[in-house]
Formats: sequence, structure tokens, C-alpha cells
Amino acid sequence: SLIPVVLSGGSGTRLWPLSREKYPKQLLPLIGEDSLLQATLRRMEGLTDVQLGAPLVVCNEEYRFVIAEQLRLMGTKGAILLEPVGRNTAPALTLAALASMRDGEDPTLLVMPADHVIMDVASFQGVVRLAMPLATEGKIVTFGITPDSPETGYGYIQAGETLGRDGASRIARFVEKPDLATAQAYLDAGSYFWNSGLFMMRASVWLSAIGYCRPDILTACRAAWDQGSADGDFLRVGKEAFMRCPSDSIDYAVMERIAGCESSLPVGAFVPLSAGWSDVGAWDSLWQVLPKDDQGNVSQGDALLENCHNMLVMAEHRLVACIGVEDMVVVETPDAVLVSHMSKTQHVKRIVDRLKREG
Ligand code: GDD
Ligand code: MG
Repeated sequence: SLIPVVLSGGSGTRLWPLSREKYPKQLLPLIGEDSLLQATLRRMEGLTDVQLGAPLVVCNEEYRFVIAEQLRLMGTKGAILLEPVGRNTAPALTLAALASMRDGEDPTLLVMPADHVIMDVASFQGVVRLAMPLATEGKIVTFGITPDSPETGYGYIQAGETLGRDGASRIARFVEKPDLATAQAYLDAGSYFWNSGLFMMRASVWLSAIGYCRPDILTACRAAWDQGSADGDFLRVGKEAFMRCPSDSIDYAVMERIAGCESSLPVGAFVPLSAGWSDVGAWDSLWQVLPKDDQGNVSQGDALLENCHNMLVMAEHRLVACIGVEDMVVVETPDAVLVSHMSKTQHVKRIVDRLKREG
């Protein structure tokens, strides 16, 4: 079967003032009614030809009630695996793999970040179907996005030898978060894709990969899992053991090392994903993917725009009116209002840092 594994660990400070520590971006309804987490789970609906197992959400224990409530509201029955502390995505996935094998099965896992937007669900599902046989036969499948800028916050995948299925190929190279010059060279080369952050592999395949690359992570996660217990839909792990687990990401811990490698490691594979993907890193990337009116404006809530162009306006509690402005982001919340140029929304992080320092 195919088990959706949703990683919900980030805080998303660049979406301030909507995203806060107590309410990170994946739990917010940024687009329509669903939160990004709910939209991630809903993206699986309609994959009726695939034998779908109950989803597994991996999150910090602090968010267990909010997440349980969001699952309940959408009528989804799934397990919520609680991390006592954040140790990045490699340990999170290792725990998920161990949890998914608890009934002696070896399901295929579709690993999905909880904080991404995918506008074209039908295309996404088509690519999931394409990846299924590759993952089932033992590969670790990545999903690549055609890059349009030398973004340094992403992993870069160079497609290798073709695997003969609609653009599927091996991974020639995987480079996580290159510096700007390297990213620009990859963009110019034309043979590189951004790693979308979605992965698909069998649970046992992940465990052998992490066991080979980072046996310390596997050992710590096994110990934490063995000391854990089920508490209704919540799965808990041993706190002391998990706190001793080293922190690392799937990308650095495993993907960079298995690319192009012919050893006993599982093989990496790659499928192109062209489905209106955005990791919603900042306000401008949210504006990019949202449907716009004919002036290029996106607005949510009570917003009135007169003679405005290329605006993103989010009004939570009050009426927001804008006249004759363009390329701006306006986000209104009860206790804070953000006004930023569209090209500068990355710098929201500076405001958040100042707020932390200056209180
Ligand atoms: N449960 C859990 N625990 N989830 C976590 C943890 C953790 O400790 N740390 C991160 N996550 C979740 C985040 O919430 C996010 O949904 C996902 O895992 C990826 O983590 P990020 O921290 O957002 O990674 P990134 O954006 O720096 O890089 C990854 O995503 C890029 C695309 O957006 C990499 O996979 C890159 O290669 C990729 O290009
Ligand atoms: Mg991210």
C-alpha cells in the first residue's frame, strides 16, 4: 500500500505576520478554507486506483491537538507521530518508516512537506502513479521542478540515465543548497531540477539507506521508537533516546550520498513534476501560484482594490483598501500589519528577528 507521510515541523517565519510560532504556516488556511496541511492530505483524494493506507503526520508534540482537530474536521483518520524535539527530516522520516512497519508490513511511503502548495492536483497524482512502480521496486524517488532562478534554498538534482518511463531517470547528482554561483551554473546548464522536497520509497529501503549513511541516526530512532507507546491516534517515542538523535535532513544525510552511487545503497530516481508547485517560502512565492484577477491581483478577505496591479492583499479582520499601488504585499492581522514590496518579502525574516531581539 501507499502511505502518505506528512512532515510538519517547520515554523515558516517568512510568512509573518500570519505565521507565528504558536501557529506555523502549515496549520494556516492560506488558500481557501483548508490549511496547507489539510490541503496536503486532500491532494491524495481521488487516487482511487492506488491502495492508500491511513496517513501518518509527523510533528512536534506541541501541535498535536491542533493537528488532530484539523484531521478530524476533514474526516481523515490517521496516526500522528509526536516528536519531543525537532531533529530535522531524516530522523522524522526514520520514525515514520518504523511506525509504518509496525504491523509487519513494508509499505511504500509518499513523503510530503506539510507546507507546500500544488495547484494542479491531477498532474500531481499522475506523477505519483508514475513514481509508484519505481519506489515499489526499491528506488528512492525524488520529484523535480524545472528551475527558473538560482534559488539557493533548494536541492538541485541532475537527471541521469533515463529509466524509460515518461521522463523518469536516475539521479546523476544531488546537491543540497548550493551557493549562488553554483546554483547559477546549474541553472545555465539546463540539466538540473530543483528538488521539490517530496520523496517516495519503501519503508525498508529508507531504513537501509539511513542505516548505511547515518547508522547513528537509525540507532537513536530505533531506541526512541522501541521506548514509545501508542496513545489513541498519537504515537509517542522515547524522549531521552530521541533527544540523543543527531539532527540532519533527508537531503544531506542520504540524497547527496546515494546520487550516482553504485554501491549497495538503494538507487535514487527522479521524475519531473510540473503541477504548479510552490514551497510557499515567502509571500511572493504564494502570490506566484495563486489565481489572479486580470490586473494580477490576489486578495483574500475583505479587500478593495482600485487601480492596483500585481498585489497580494490578505485581510483577516478589517477592510483593507488600496489605491493606485502595485507590486506590494499587504497582510492585515489583529495585532500586526505587513506592507512590503513584492520583491523584498524575503526580508520579513529580518522583522521577525528584530521582534525576537527587541521584544
Ligand atoms: N516532523 C518534522 N520534524 N518535520 C520537519 C522537521 C522536523 O524536525 N524539520 C523540517 N520538517 C518539515 C518542514 O515542515 C517541511 O515541511 C519539510 O519538513 C522540509 O523541511 P524544510 O526545513 O522546509 O526544508 P528546506 O525547505 O530547507 O529544504 C527541503 O525542501 C526544499 C523544497 O522546498 C529540501 O528537501 C530541499 O532539497 C528542497 O529543495
Ligand atoms: Mg521548506
